Amino acid sequence: MKIISLIALCIFSNTITLFASGVRSRDKFNEGWKFYKGDAPEAVHPIFDDSQWRILDLPHDWSIEGEFNEKHPSTFGTGALPGGIGWYRKSFRVAASDKDQLFYIEFDGVYHNSEVWINGKYLGKRPYGYSSFRYKLSPYLNFGDSMNVIAVKVDNLQEPNSRWYSGCGIYRNVWLVKSGIVAVDHWGTFVTTLHVDNQKATIKIGIKIKNNSGLPITAVVRSGIYNAKNKLVAEISTSKVSLKNPETNVQQTITVNKPLLWSIENPDMYHVVSSISNKQLVLDEYETPIGIRVFNFDSIKGFILNGKQVKIKGVCNHHDLGCLGAAINTRALERQLELLKEMGCNGIRTSHNPPAPELLELCDKMGFIVMDEAFDVWKKKKREFDYALDFEQWHKKDLQDMVLRDRNHPSVFIWSIGNEIVEQKDSSGVNIAKELAAIVRELDKTRPITSAVDEVPYPENYLIKSGALDLIGYNYHHEIFAEFPKTFPGGKFIATETTSALATRGSYDMPADTIRRWPSDWRRTFTDGNADLSCSSYDNCATPWGSTHEESWEIIKKYDFLSGMFVWTGFDYIGEPTPYTWPARSSYFGILDLCGFPKDAYYMYQSEWTDKPVLHILPHWNWKQGQMIDVWAYSNCNEVELTLNGRSLGIQRKKGDQIHFGWKVPYEAGTLRATGKTNGKEIIAHEIKTSGLPAKIMLSPDRSTIHADGNDLSYITVQVVDKDNVPVPNADNLIYFSVQGDATIAGVDNGSQTSMESFKSHERRAFHAKCLLVIKAGKIEGSVKVLAKAEGLQSAVEVIKLK
Ligand code: GAL
Repeated sequence: MKIISLIALCIFSNTITLFASGVRSRDKFNEGWKFYKGDAPEAVHPIFDDSQWRILDLPHDWSIEGEFNEKHPSTFGTGALPGGIGWYRKSFRVAASDKDQLFYIEFDGVYHNSEVWINGKYLGKRPYGYSSFRYKLSPYLNFGDSMNVIAVKVDNLQEPNSRWYSGCGIYRNVWLVKSGIVAVDHWGTFVTTLHVDNQKATIKIGIKIKNNSGLPITAVVRSGIYNAKNKLVAEISTSKVSLKNPETNVQQTITVNKPLLWSIENPDMYHVVSSISNKQLVLDEYETPIGIRVFNFDSIKGFILNGKQVKIKGVCNHHDLGCLGAAINTRALERQLELLKEMGCNGIRTSHNPPAPELLELCDKMGFIVMDEAFDVWKKKKREFDYALDFEQWHKKDLQDMVLRDRNHPSVFIWSIGNEIVEQKDSSGVNIAKELAAIVRELDKTRPITSAVDEVPYPENYLIKSGALDLIGYNYHHEIFAEFPKTFPGGKFIATETTSALATRGSYDMPADTIRRWPSDWRRTFTDGNADLSCSSYDNCATPWGSTHEESWEIIKKYDFLSGMFVWTGFDYIGEPTPYTWPARSSYFGILDLCGFPKDAYYMYQSEWTDKPVLHILPHWNWKQGQMIDVWAYSNCNEVELTLNGRSLGIQRKKGDQIHFGWKVPYEAGTLRATGKTNGKEIIAHEIKTSGLPAKIMLSPDRSTIHADGNDLSYITVQVVDKDNVPVPNADNLIYFSVQGDATIAGVDNGSQTSMESFKSHERRAFHAKCLLVIKAGKIEGSVKVLAKAEGLQSAVEVIKLK
């Protein structure tokens, strides 16, 4: 017995040296990469000469830097931008003192078919461009003065492989992770709320620990729950945890008294810090942000969050960030969410793929209900080279990784295993749906699973018939929603995708109440639409399978059993132009355009989805004398009075479910003013004026002080106005930009779906009076002077502070 103890002691003293510096770090690994656009197979070798390659920082999307061309294999369905192959390399040193640590490289997303080498050793391939993944670097690393070289090949040669713009390259963040040899596994915790009442919440913490030492260590595993002010609110320790196996799962249950529940209005967050220690030595410390909330979907009341009925007022979004392309930027995402929140939106569907982790972090913090989606295709393809090629080999891993990565986010409420999957039409869909749902349930039973179905209604739809889904998710078909409780007794429902209305910001086709559902064959050569391929902003233009904004919302609002909707889409995105006619190269579906400028429908939602006073009139006020104009107002006031040049055009009162107010007004130049009243009291007014000729440029930054962190952005709205500062509705002046100070132009845009101008230029034509300039901070504090000039217009200067 004594001998055994002695051996154990020797082993233990061994471990002390081995684990002495077991402190985890996770640092961005984005700076100073080399990039080559083209194939360079020799680049895997550490001694390869990359001195002529371009130096850049990640995240990077090479497509967005290219020119539009109808002949690009991507097709204009995905934005008509270039694809191809690209290589990235990065050289780095690792301190000699770290030689006993484990190192990993984590990629949040590489589009697509990435392959990675370290010091000439092949680490692996990851086809799916939206999956996050990591490789262990340790066995192949050099320590001390010797260099290490990572090489990454990105292969997006075979196109089309998507139905929207994907971007190309290492377009999400990359991380270098260091841990001790006893450590919490990658995505190794799962924290769930078991029970909540007025007094307390019971939280379950699962921790997966990896012991790479081969030694039979015994550890203490402690978890502390901290509130947003970093104050410890609960803790638990499990002692004598035997880590004799390479992998050990530890389960802990802990009570939080008087928890602040996570909700849309107050998204209170906590974080769990789990530590593994041996005697006094901390081997690892791992942090998991969480939110405490309870929810369920109900066949009668829809979605219930913390005991309260909540209508999901959501939007679908693709991942591109307009002129920044797919290259992720946290501020760009935050701005999108701020604009949506301001509109009253409370939900995001990550159509149709796992999102950037930063999106979920922001949704946690800002209070959005996320439907996290895995796939747009299973085995049966929608595009020639899409994920169907990889589904068989990769679906399990990709789906598992999505759930493992995202399951601690309080904002994630629904898992979606697919969008409009072709297999819904045949019996092969049954088994795949069952298999995918089982993969998800194995890792998380706390959230419902759906798959967005469309073409095939029940009872023919094989995905619904499979019984694998917890929530019935319909895309479109709002005309059958009312019958839903009869069709699916006891069923729970979410409108996974609605609307697909089309609009070009600032374009108006009258009469406003005539709805054009065109083109009925959306791939047909465009003959019966507007010659400039514009779509009207009166909410009178929609796809034949979709509806207007009002039509969808009316139904969702009416029935409690409909837990909510995700409008297609929050923002215009690159690709999928409908009308499907060149040179249209980006979508028309957004409630906001590609710049993030609201289209008129934005105010419809704001008036329906928020309680703050809203009043917005459309169209603009520059028409031909005497022309009969449809004037609309979106407002949540119960009456609106319209006046033209001080003369009343009548008061209108809201009737029943009426969503907009409307007048027919013979045009005369001047001032059109709407006044919103509730119970006879004036609450809000909105005025538009006839403009004169373009005279000046006006710059309005969303933020005039930004962080000097090399990433922060200022979004500057550029407007062409007349001498009295009234926006000139159809101004299309070409505007030139320059920047002095430590900042760069990250992108320019104007929201036109047909513009062939580059997103990465220093000039942009205004479109319906506006364009956008995005400034990216450098790292030196100080002032940045932004100058905008155009022929015949008074220039504008704006100063942005970097702090
Ligand atoms: C849906 C599809 C979306 C998008 C949309 C356009 O059917 O799920 O990805 O294509 O149509 O209306």
